[in-house]
Amino acid sequence: MGFKIGLLGLGTVGTGTAQILLDPARRHPLVQELDLYRVGVRSLDKPRSVTLPDHVLTTDLDSIVTDPAVDIVVEVMGGLEPARSLILKAIAHRKHIVTANKAAIARFGDEIFTAAAEAGVYVLLEAAVGGGIPVIEPLKQSLCSNRLQAVTGIVNGTTNYILTRMQQEGGDFADILADAQRLGYAEADPTADVDGLDAADKIAILASLAFGGRIKRSEVHCEGIRQVSAADIAYAEKLGFVIKLLAIAKRNPQAENEPEQLQVRVHPTLVPKAHPLASVNDVYNAILIEGEPIGQVMFFGPGAGAGPTASAVVSDILNIAAILKVERGSRAVSDGAPLLDPLLACSHQHYCAIAPMETLTARFYARFLTQDTPGVIGKLGTCFGDHQVSLESVVQTDVRGQTAEIVVVTHDVLEGNFRKALAEIRAMSGINDIPTTLRVL
Ligand code: HSE
Repeated sequence: MGFKIGLLGLGTVGTGTAQILLDPARRHPLVQELDLYRVGVRSLDKPRSVTLPDHVLTTDLDSIVTDPAVDIVVEVMGGLEPARSLILKAIAHRKHIVTANKAAIARFGDEIFTAAAEAGVYVLLEAAVGGGIPVIEPLKQSLCSNRLQAVTGIVNGTTNYILTRMQQEGGDFADILADAQRLGYAEADPTADVDGLDAADKIAILASLAFGGRIKRSEVHCEGIRQVSAADIAYAEKLGFVIKLLAIAKRNPQAENEPEQLQVRVHPTLVPKAHPLASVNDVYNAILIEGEPIGQVMFFGPGAGAGPTASAVVSDILNIAAILKVERGSRAVSDGAPLLDPLLACSHQHYCAIAPMETLTARFYARFLTQDTPGVIGKLGTCFGDHQVSLESVVQTDVRGQTAEIVVVTHDVLEGNFRKALAEIRAMSGINDIPTTLRVL
């Protein structure tokens, strides 16, 4: 008597998942007990790279999530709807859920996990962050004895590919994005990736697990990489940095007796070349977790793709199947919802407080285009000083005609003060433009 799997979606990840389930040799013996029972697709006629018996495929996805025979519903269709409704309906029918859907979990995790806790079912999502990299389960289980301090990740392969090529070739964002689209490394509509939305979904999930509370997705500060130019990459290089799109969740330094707040944010960041994340290139992802007493631990690997993502999906299925097997063996399920493994299930009820960006302390990089006239650097320095923004370095290497390019790196400063200084500088005579402001790790 195996475990019946209802798979929703047979795209890249669904196909990878089906391939593992249909080819169990030399994997964990429990894979042989997983029965790919129903697969929900949009069209029955589409050519497939995986061969399934005719009776397995259906376009009636509702019939899968309500089928009494199905034990585990695997949602790999993506998008918000109908994924959300199908997950909720499956939970109402007491199905355990495995999903790769970071967008749905980051936005609707609240109602999904509340419903799952009430129904006594698991919702596992290893594939939602970092593709094949095991990071969700380590946060829930292997690292759960630690007091976690920070999670810092490169969690979007598309932007890491683009930034790596900009770094290596000296090219501009728009040209390399177009080439990445041509080569299939970036979507035709690249918004979710290049504007940081995908990374923001993922860090909301990681923050929730690391800090034991729910995160409102709308409170995650999010900046993408469109503003990063070849000039910024070149300046960063001279100053000893590479530019990466970082997703950061950390405990905000707090004064005594003040309630704890978190920082949860996504933005392009100058990363010192010696930092472990600086050498994570191309489409690879990495997540650096800091805690007490472990110190630093970094997870690195393929963050997307059929095989890696399916690896995470099937591992989640196996985790649930293992628990069901023990339950069936010991007949542990009595009336009502079964007890859930407290490390594997999500039991957060409260929301984490997120610190407003203007209250954070950070180092900043800013690039100014100014008139090449006496006193401009002095005026910049005075304005920053008036707002308690202390400068670490001021570089002027390029003068084109009447335009000078000045790059400033600050010490640790209050973001609110930096923004006020920038607003004043923007209005000054002699300042033509401030094309880029970035944070420094
Ligand atoms: N669009 C994502 C990326 C795919 O580029 O990393 C995996 O979530």
